[in-house]
Amino acid sequence: MWALGDYDRIAARLAPAAERIASKVGDGAGRRAVDVAAGTGSLARALASRSWSVAACDIAPALVERGRELSADAGLDIDWHEAELDELPFADGSAELFGSSFGLIFAPDAERALAEAHRLLRAGGTLAFSAWTPSSYMAEMTTVMSEFMPPNPEMRKPFRWGDLELTNSWLAGGFTSISTTTHTLPWVFPTASAAADFKFTYSPPHLAALSFVGERADELRAAVRDHLAGLAARDGSIKIDAEYVVTVARRK
Ligand SMILES: C[S@@+](CC[C@H](N)C(=O)[O-])C[C@H]1O[C@@H](n2cnc3c(N)ncnc32)[C@H](O)[C@@H]1O
Repeated sequence: MWALGDYDRIAARLAPAAERIASKVGDGAGRRAVDVAAGTGSLARALASRSWSVAACDIAPALVERGRELSADAGLDIDWHEAELDELPFADGSAELFGSSFGLIFAPDAERALAEAHRLLRAGGTLAFSAWTPSSYMAEMTTVMSEFMPPNPEMRKPFRWGDLELTNSWLAGGFTSISTTTHTLPWVFPTASAAADFKFTYSPPHLAALSFVGERADELRAAVRDHLAGLAARDGSIKIDAEYVVTVARRK
């Protein structure tokens, strides 16, 4: 799914969150970091620019390929791999930082993904990830689209990673010094129609939903546009502050 559309356009909108994670973990001084579910590597590049020695992994071959190109274009030496986020091709205790920007949240099994982070990190190493909150605009949009799908609790699973109480309980066993900060990412468009067109042209989940709904495609487009119109300012423009959290924790 994630190779549908033009991920560069989505990555550009999400990149400030990757920068935020990188600024929170600071200078790497040559230490080893892994960007997990890296997409095209916004976080990997932000870390490599801060002197981390970075490996990046994603499940989608096309995004890994594009990530390699973007790293090379930026003159950054990033070690790219195609890999599932809970089955990474690295030795136990081999990383100082396990980072993920809106990627870890797509883990099929949260417990297994965190066990993999724990395995990979050395004691005292850092886990850092961003996640949309359950009341964020992204969660709202998922609700709009889920009305066109058969009931599927999986669709809401990513938003659990932005539920502080829940993630703290997941992390408590293997991690300590857990800190979470809340931020927003702006989604700005001149009109609701422009925002809906952007989504149905570039966003992988929206494109996947379109192909899934078949004959109801126009109805889905209209529902998304109407939802966006309900969020518009008086002049019709859209400026959504999509809420997310950045969680940082130390491996016990
Ligand atoms: C919203 S994108 C975020 C990508 C990137 N971190 C960024 O900030 O632009 C989610 C990413 O998770 C990846 N992904 C989803 N499930 C995965 C899995 N089970 N293992 C590895 N990567 C996965 C997708 O291929 C996609 O690149």
